[in-house]
Amino acid sequence: MTLVLGIETTCDETACSLVRNGTEILANVVSSQIDLHNEYGGVVPELACRRHVDLLLPTLDKALQDAQVSLEQIDLIAVAHAPGLIGALLIGINAAKSLSIALQKPFVGVNHVEAHLYAALMSQPAFPTFPCLGIVLSGGHTSLIKMNAIGDYTLLGQTIDDAIGESFDKTAKILGLPYPGGPYIEKLAKQGNPLAYPFKPGRVKGRVLDFSFSGLKTQALYAVKGQNERDEQRVLSDQQKNDLCASFQETAFMDVIGKALQAAKQENCQTIVLGGGVTHNQHLRSLFQQKAPGFHFVWPKNELSLDNAAMIAGLGYHVYQQKGKGDSLDLEAKTRTPFYSR
Ligand code: KG4
Ligand code: ZN
Repeated sequence: MTLVLGIETTCDETACSLVRNGTEILANVVSSQIDLHNEYGGVVPELACRRHVDLLLPTLDKALQDAQVSLEQIDLIAVAHAPGLIGALLIGINAAKSLSIALQKPFVGVNHVEAHLYAALMSQPAFPTFPCLGIVLSGGHTSLIKMNAIGDYTLLGQTIDDAIGESFDKTAKILGLPYPGGPYIEKLAKQGNPLAYPFKPGRVKGRVLDFSFSGLKTQALYAVKGQNERDEQRVLSDQQKNDLCASFQETAFMDVIGKALQAAKQENCQTIVLGGGVTHNQHLRSLFQQKAPGFHFVWPKNELSLDNAAMIAGLGYHVYQQKGKGDSLDLEAKTRTPFYSR
């Protein structure tokens, strides 16, 4: 029996979780900083770091209380050490190292993006048969990954500029919607016509499985502000805003689905595993089922699709087993790290 404490501080959520044997969630506490960053329309790293410092210990206490366990009962500490904001990562890593020294228990660094895919795996009663196609759709990443096994991956495609969630957030900001914009775009899109604006998905020359979302965001910008600096800014009606959200969302999702199906066929994968904040979007889920009825989909539970520490603790269990030991105190924070295998 292994009880793992997970710590997540990669961006703007401070989260602690207790998970037994990789899948049994005893506590999953997420302290959100959305109110703090909303005012600025995006995450302000310095403010995020200060808030992580304030929130980490209360979040840990709440997790221990929810799980009804004491610190001494923890067998392993898992912390997201990459990728993310450097200062934010360091706060989680230093907390994990300090706890490891104080409790005389091992700790391991976990890749946050890999953990988003594991969030879907731990949401099911049993793991799927590998290989699977993994798709990460978050605020920082858009990747297609062949999952040969837990810990064994091949990167097939990724965004060359904005991540899909980032393009949702930027488009929402253009429309004057709050941060993070993804849920607001989903909401307005429900009342909109996805064919109203003829947006085009980004193409990357010679790399059919790569993404580019910055052009799509610019098309949305031009639809609102015009292409010329001298153009009068258009004041969109509520219906036009709904239509813009629906058209933007449909273009982005159809692009993901098209490339995902191409990758799944190319790699002979019958199962598609999805992770990251954008998978919270219900329209994405129904569009996937509709366009690819022959595939088996593995979605994260709603509470595991956005940033959380249960996915860090769950994956940490496997990382420790596969490595056969904990990490040393030399473990570093890595802001941008390629998706890696063990
Ligand atoms: O995975 P996540 O919590 O953090 C990162 O690792 O980046 O993802 C956050 C992203 C944000 O860009 C947010 O706008 C997006 O997920 N998001 C959504 C929805 N809910 C969150 N995007 C589209 N539709 C949603 N319902
Ligand atoms: Zn994330």
